[in-house]
Amino acid sequence: MPKRTCLAIILAAGEGTRMRSATPKVLHPVGGLPMLGHVLRTAKAVGASRIAVVARVGASGDAVAAFVKAQSPDAVVYRQNPSDPADSGTGKAVLAARKEFGRGYSDILVLYGDTPLVTGETLAAMRERLARKTDVVVMGFRPADPTGYGRLITNGRQLLAIREEKDAAPGERGIGFCNAGVMAFQGEGVPALLKKIGNANAKGEYYLTDLVEIANRAGKSVEAVEADAREVAGVNTRLELSAVEGTFQERARRAAMANGVTMLAPKTVFFSYDTRLGEDVVIEPNVFFGPGVSVEGGVTIRAFSHIEGATVARGAVIGPFARLRPGSEIGANARIGNFVETKAAVIDKGAKVNHLTYIGDAHIGAETNIGAGTITCNYDGYGKYRTEIGANAFIGSNSALVAPVTIGKGAYVASGSVITMNVPPDALAVARGRQAVKKGWAEAFRRRKGGGKGKH
Ligand code: UD1
Ligand code: MG
Repeated sequence: MPKRTCLAIILAAGEGTRMRSATPKVLHPVGGLPMLGHVLRTAKAVGASRIAVVARVGASGDAVAAFVKAQSPDAVVYRQNPSDPADSGTGKAVLAARKEFGRGYSDILVLYGDTPLVTGETLAAMRERLARKTDVVVMGFRPADPTGYGRLITNGRQLLAIREEKDAAPGERGIGFCNAGVMAFQGEGVPALLKKIGNANAKGEYYLTDLVEIANRAGKSVEAVEADAREVAGVNTRLELSAVEGTFQERARRAAMANGVTMLAPKTVFFSYDTRLGEDVVIEPNVFFGPGVSVEGGVTIRAFSHIEGATVARGAVIGPFARLRPGSEIGANARIGNFVETKAAVIDKGAKVNHLTYIGDAHIGAETNIGAGTITCNYDGYGKYRTEIGANAFIGSNSALVAPVTIGKGAYVASGSVITMNVPPDALAVARGRQAVKKGWAEAFRRRKGGGKGKH
């Protein structure tokens, strides 16, 4: 059988008024990735050979188009003007991408940009129905409260109609099986029917859902597949956004544990869409992963650590209270301790940065020890400068390393130094006022003040 090709159309031109936001709704993140990004990834995962995104005309649509270009340069963006009554509704949104219809795709999938948790497996099941010659497949679900959703009216396997809440008869409103919004149809024979969608309904919009009755009249087979209600949850408000985030996190935690990660308090650990963790990673409570983190096996991440854009190699221990910022590369068995911040820092294997330290724009060699309170002074208000520290070096506590500066391998820096010049390998650098001790000074001082203990 020849491979079936697939066009995915992602609807993202709705207004999103209820978010009360300057950011277009579909660009609000879930698990650190805009909702639209999740849908783009899922469309790819289910094998879409072509992806079309329908964005609004105007500035918010421009932002959506820019995001699509950055994440999926091969996707194409079409524009819709839903403020124009002649161009409003999900039916018109799909038609905005009509140029794609003539290109001979076997399957056409319609997805919503504000429904980010739909899985590739569910979409694959819909494509499977198309492969078995069903003409139109609708994703259904049974929400706890069906208010506001289109109701699915069935007769045996055949889906006869989708009735929008506002247009439903009282009897139809009692139906609990609802339209999730995702629809799949044959690339041949069905798209021509989209033109027959009218707007004679309560909202005066062109409803994609009317395709179901039109397809029935044309003698097509139309079916519904049932999906999990949490999977198809859409986002219209900030409250719903938080619920979807909660579901995403729940999934991510389960996946991490299934892959061999121990979490002491999973509900307090937050992941991004792309967090990668090896086997036998142990995560203590209250840890946050921003985007771009990859952790090898056997790493322990101790409580209250915040990690983004970082890689951590096997056996390292991070935290408690560590902050790894983008560009941090932590080597095998290295130690990053409490109140340590790293940024654009390569820390080689076995190095120790254990207490109260900032390491930015730096490279620290293997087995080097960075004393408590060390600061790389990497910024002068204009540019960023690098600190280079060789292997097996020892930086004494409370040192300021004024970049650009190089400290050779095996070198020592005395505690409390302000290092402004390069230090050769195996040298000692002392850059602080020499200590003076004045014997009996304190006693004489007190006598001058008339004795007693003073006020301290
Ligand atoms: C839609 C369905 C409803 C279903 C519900 C599931 C229709 C007519 N109704 O209703 O049966 O139960 O979703 O959540 O389809 N969009 C555009 N252009 C438009 C209008 C919408 O791109 O002109 C996009 C939105 O950005 C969104 C999606 O289409 O991603 C759904 O639009 P929305 O207005 O939320 O539809 P509902 O009224 O929720
Ligand atoms: Mg909606």
